[in-house]
Amino acid sequence: MADFTITPDPNLHLEHSNEYEPEDWRSETTSIASSLYRGFMENGRRYQTLRDAGYFSPSDEKQFETYEVGHLACLLMNADAPNPLYLAPVPAPKHVLDIGTGQGSWAIDMADMFPNAVVRGVDLFPPPVSWIPPNCIFEVDDILQQWTWREKFDLIHLRHGIGAFTQDEWGSLYKHCYDNLEPGGWFEQIEMDIRCECDDGSIPADSVLFTWGPRFFAAGEKMGKSLDITKNLRPSIENAGFADVHEKTTKWPIGAWPRDKALKEAGIVNIQHWLSGMEGYSMYLLTKYGDPVPWTREEVLIYVADMRKALKNPRFHVYQRAKRIWAKKPLADEMVGRSESPDILKQK
Ligand SMILES: C[S@@+](CC[C@H](N)C(=O)[O-])C[C@H]1O[C@@H](n2cnc3c(N)ncnc32)[C@H](O)[C@@H]1O
Repeated sequence: MADFTITPDPNLHLEHSNEYEPEDWRSETTSIASSLYRGFMENGRRYQTLRDAGYFSPSDEKQFETYEVGHLACLLMNADAPNPLYLAPVPAPKHVLDIGTGQGSWAIDMADMFPNAVVRGVDLFPPPVSWIPPNCIFEVDDILQQWTWREKFDLIHLRHGIGAFTQDEWGSLYKHCYDNLEPGGWFEQIEMDIRCECDDGSIPADSVLFTWGPRFFAAGEKMGKSLDITKNLRPSIENAGFADVHEKTTKWPIGAWPRDKALKEAGIVNIQHWLSGMEGYSMYLLTKYGDPVPWTREEVLIYVADMRKALKNPRFHVYQRAKRIWAKKPLADEMVGRSESPDILKQK
């Protein structure tokens, strides 16, 4: 665990908070590097510049709107849970971390819901917020770097991390999470399966909808960061040392086609997530890793337009799957016979 007094490169670490900052929240950082806000422009979209390895989804207003709609879809699809923000059994979290917080909606909702908690959201790009609750702190950093937070967390959350990390990086991230949770603390992650599916034959087998998943799985392989994320979640999380692992897979409608009122509402929001997000999610990937050769911007736009048209067809009963997984860092007495070091588990 890093010593808290180590000061990260101020150009690489930016903290947003507001005036109410009790002393022990005082952070090690705080320089505002405006170049971070500028990012870099490519094919009409803005991308983060903090991580050299690159990240495929833009950090611009259009994509932040997409994330907001995705947040709403998640809440609607989890509306029957006691708390739609997470399922881990942590009734009153005190120290919460949201990894890859994006536009920060989850972290802000958590901070509002639990005013006595400190909720941190970390991302490569500063969240576009004008106001945040006093107990919410946003930090700009690469989560793969050494963690310098003094407190241990009792809940760490990660949503839509698809395509951000290689398999080894996922392993090391889960290890960081494990090491930085209190014993008895929980990690929770939710990821979408990007394949379009249909159970009733309402979509012709040659529909463009069925090309989306395989095309991006192939692009992800070329990039070296798998987009077939849901299948690796559980083994990687268990490998980091977590116990008491739970998972829930749900079918998320895309569109207003379900009869059930709640699913219809969620489907209407989810299709908006697709319609507003597809260009941003695909531009970087297809112009760099498209098959058989990198695509042009125009080719990507045409493909996305075809996808949009198909998704809007009310006769098509299309859905995608989402996997939510939550897992506990064992308490000390539950560790008997286990190794504290996930590395040892990894070697098995
Ligand atoms: C698809 S967005 C999801 C945002 C948010 N979690 C949500 O559900 O709306 C993934 C976010 O992870 C961030 N991210 C990717 N790699 C990261 C890294 N190495 N460190 C911190 N954040 C990262 C991206 O900048 C992006 O904002």
